[in-house]
Amino acid sequence: MFDGESSIPAGDFKGTVRDIRQITETVFSIHIACPVISRLARPGQFIMIRFPNRSDPLLGRPLAVSSAGGDDISICFQVVGKMTALLSRILPGEILSLRGPMGNGFGLPSSTMVTMVAGALGAAPLIFAYNRMPQNIGKNFILGVADRSWYPFCEWIKKLIPEVRFFSEDGIIGKKGTVLNGLGEELSPEEEIWTCGPLPMMRAIGQKYTRGRERIRVSLETRMACGMGGCQGCVINTLKGKKRVCVDGPVFSAEEVCWDDLKG
Ligand SMILES: Cc1cc2nc3c(=O)[nH]c(=O)nc-3n(C[C@H](O)[C@H](O)[C@H](O)COP(=O)(O)OP(=O)(O)OC[C@H]3O[C@@H](n4cnc5c(N)ncnc54)[C@H](O)[C@@H]3O)c2cc1C
Ligand code: FES
Repeated sequence: MFDGESSIPAGDFKGTVRDIRQITETVFSIHIACPVISRLARPGQFIMIRFPNRSDPLLGRPLAVSSAGGDDISICFQVVGKMTALLSRILPGEILSLRGPMGNGFGLPSSTMVTMVAGALGAAPLIFAYNRMPQNIGKNFILGVADRSWYPFCEWIKKLIPEVRFFSEDGIIGKKGTVLNGLGEELSPEEEIWTCGPLPMMRAIGQKYTRGRERIRVSLETRMACGMGGCQGCVINTLKGKKRVCVDGPVFSAEEVCWDDLKG
């Protein structure tokens, strides 16, 4: 599935909110009962989410699947605008419209060690990837956050991934610095990096290594309108031509992304 193979959206479903948990002032996690998406979802895929009885916001918003098991999936998000504000006030039993699972996902590792590098909410798809990693593959998880306000989020992640290493810009959580401080000078041939987070972070990781960039998988978060390949609203430039993040991605090889053309 990885490396440019387009995916076909699985379909439109209704999901019933099981529970909602507030993690920080602005970060929330929701469990949603949706058996088909739960069964089909693979790490790195996302859902387009809407409210069935609201025309505003009209367009769905992409959110990564952060876990899938039994009948349920979970999402984890930060309130940044109208949709996420509405989601933060949702109650158990309410119904959401879900389209998915969408996108290519991270696929299977081609090395024996995967280092997952998350910036803040970029942890969402990587939590799923970490927990679904085949047992014979070694794994690390590095999370970078801005400052102490992320402490409850880091505590929450630590419960899900006890081995996580933290970096914060003020040094209050984990080591002082950015996730780049947690990465080696060279990428060994047995190792690959999967990353998701703010664009400057992924660009820095994508451009850090002169050798081995093809072993860095980046999950891009462009704005999306249709989410299913029709509107060209999420197109990026790659060395293999123009690609749509919603159906050709969101996971790309760092080697193929034209980083200087991406805004942000
Ligand atoms: C594949 C994918 C997976 C995602 N997974 C998650 C996730 O798991 N958790 C999560 O919290 N968010 C995730 N996002 C980001 C999320 O979809 C956006 O933040 C979404 O727009 C929020 O909707 P809203 O209506 O609350 O805010 P909006 O009104 O849509 O946006 C609020 C503000 O954020 C800006 N903005 C929105 N999206 C972007 C963007 N891509 N780049 C730069 N600025 C932007 C807008 O310009 C606006 O100023 C993901 C995005 C993609 C593409
Ligand atoms: S969001 Fe419409 S083509 Fe990707």
